[in-house]
Amino acid sequence: MNREKALENMKGFCNVCPICDGRACAGQIPGMGGVGSGSSFITNVSDLKEYKLNMKVMSCETEPDPSIELFGFNLSFPLLAAPIGGASFNMSKTVTEDEYAKAIVDGCKSRGIIGCTGDGPQDYGCKAGFKAIEEAGGAGIPFIKPWEDELLLERLEGAKAIGCEYIGMDIDSIGLINVKVNGGSMPTRNAAQYKELIKKLPFKVIIKGIMDPDEADKCVDMGVAGIIVSNHGGRILDHSRSTVSALPEIVKAVNGRIPVLVDGGVRSGFDMLKMMALGADAVLIGRPFTTNAMGDLNNGVGKYIDKIKYQFVQSMLLTGCSSLDELKEKGSSILYKSK
Ligand SMILES: Cc1cc2nc3c(=O)[nH]c(=O)nc-3n(C[C@H](O)[C@H](O)[C@H](O)COP(=O)(O)O)c2cc1C
Repeated sequence: MNREKALENMKGFCNVCPICDGRACAGQIPGMGGVGSGSSFITNVSDLKEYKLNMKVMSCETEPDPSIELFGFNLSFPLLAAPIGGASFNMSKTVTEDEYAKAIVDGCKSRGIIGCTGDGPQDYGCKAGFKAIEEAGGAGIPFIKPWEDELLLERLEGAKAIGCEYIGMDIDSIGLINVKVNGGSMPTRNAAQYKELIKKLPFKVIIKGIMDPDEADKCVDMGVAGIIVSNHGGRILDHSRSTVSALPEIVKAVNGRIPVLVDGGVRSGFDMLKMMALGADAVLIGRPFTTNAMGDLNNGVGKYIDKIKYQFVQSMLLTGCSSLDELKEKGSSILYKSK
């Protein structure tokens, strides 16, 4: 990573720490931190670290194939860049919203994966995402927040105009400080209200921000295309449990009916493998994509993906998984946890 450039571009907003673990930036919102004490962000990272991999060297029949089809995209491996919005107030103004969204979407496309784009109270954030996805020929998924009906419809029109088949909705944003500080508002909606809303939309909807098995089950009933187990990188509820700890129960509740994705604290291809061994179908990474984009735009993003993919394939090879199906079958047997 071009750390020097990233540090310069993110001065006052991010320390670009060698390991992005939420300690140095605790409470920094706007900025890149976790909310309040920062514990939800910190726990995402530290709980994942508790898992180790069981090494096997005579079990792979062939070179690992990490490719997967997901949400109509053929991905070179099961990683997506998490939606991160608010370049102008979370990361300084050295890179514009347009440049940031383009760096993520193009960098991901160049390596055969998908970049997601974020949303915020001002429309320039989501517009930058729509523009980047359109320019990349549809290779991206925009995430839209569950705004009040009128604003929500306006944002959804933007996604329709660029021909999206899938959109994401981070329904955990009802608790987001940034939105409140910037004058946005979101109603609380129950599962029946979301079901009604989703039924009317001309998109397949991926719901982000699920941390509870009952709510995951409700999402299936709501007719969603997939869910993302996420605590918004620890930016919503201080003292929230980690996503890796919530994942297995959610996977059990969903029982293969829809894809279950997860994010929060994933910092390597090894962490990706751990999440998938615990039942995730694919994984998202957030902040490290940002620092790499702030260091060297789409070039930085591409190089970062190369590193994560190398680690992921190595970890498949050395835990005896030739394919993602085999990884799913082996599940948590490839993991070791000391406590
Ligand atoms: C600065 C910042 C802005 C974010 N903006 C959005 C957003 O617009 N929409 C969304 O769904 N999630 C947003 N997120 C949450 C991420 O998509 C993701 O859930 C989180 O960053 C994953 O954790 P990680 O950064 O530890 O990998 C944001 C996170 C950060 C740090």
